[in-house]
Amino acid sequence: MTPMEMLLNRASQDSLTAPAPSASELSDILATAMRAPDHGKLRPWRYVIIEGEARPLAAERIVASMLRLDAHAPQAKIDKRRDRFSNMPMIIALGMHLRPDNKIPLWEQEMTVAAGAMNILNALSATGFGGVWVSGDITEDPVLAAEIGFEAPHKLAGFLFVGTPAGQNTPLPRRPDPEQFTARWLGSPVIFTADSKE
Ligand SMILES: Cc1cc2nc3c(=O)[nH]c(=O)nc-3n(C[C@H](O)[C@H](O)[C@H](O)COP(=O)(O)O)c2cc1C
Repeated sequence: MTPMEMLLNRASQDSLTAPAPSASELSDILATAMRAPDHGKLRPWRYVIIEGEARPLAAERIVASMLRLDAHAPQAKIDKRRDRFSNMPMIIALGMHLRPDNKIPLWEQEMTVAAGAMNILNALSATGFGGVWVSGDITEDPVLAAEIGFEAPHKLAGFLFVGTPAGQNTPLPRRPDPEQFTARWLGSPVIFTADSKE
């Protein structure tokens, strides 16, 4: 596959099985995150690898967070999250090491973390692995973030589930036409086809 074909064929993979990337594969994959655009070279990205026996421990912290946020969280939702965090081949907690007092605005620091995560997703795809970025309200729970290692002002940006795609023939999702999201500015505010029905 050419690099363009690889980019055009990437899709999030939710159904993942072993193996996860080896330590050296993971090191290469994470190196791509260090290529994300980063205003001020603040390096706000942080990666916490959760695998093996740490997964059920993480799952219990996730469940505790869910119950902290909603004491009446549905049991089915709790069971599903516990199962996914216990059994995914690898989980990468995405941390944001934020500097509120820096001249670089927080939103730019957060976007750098997102750009790094996108590189990781592309690198997973390029190396035959798969991943999906998940969040949910637990991502904004400061207690959970601190338990993982991100005490305020630092935060979580979510989690990447990582492994080998289980279904080899999963059809690629339909993607929007980029023309609908593109306009040429000629002096007046642009209108996008994507927004024309709003
Ligand atoms: C910051 C962020 C958080 C996300 N959180 C969730 C989530 O909690 N659950 C979920 O099903 N998808 C979530 N998604 C969307 C998936 O990661 C994925 O993009 C989506 O399933 C579409 O797949 P695609 O990446 O192939 O287009 C999130 C995406 C982003 C960028």
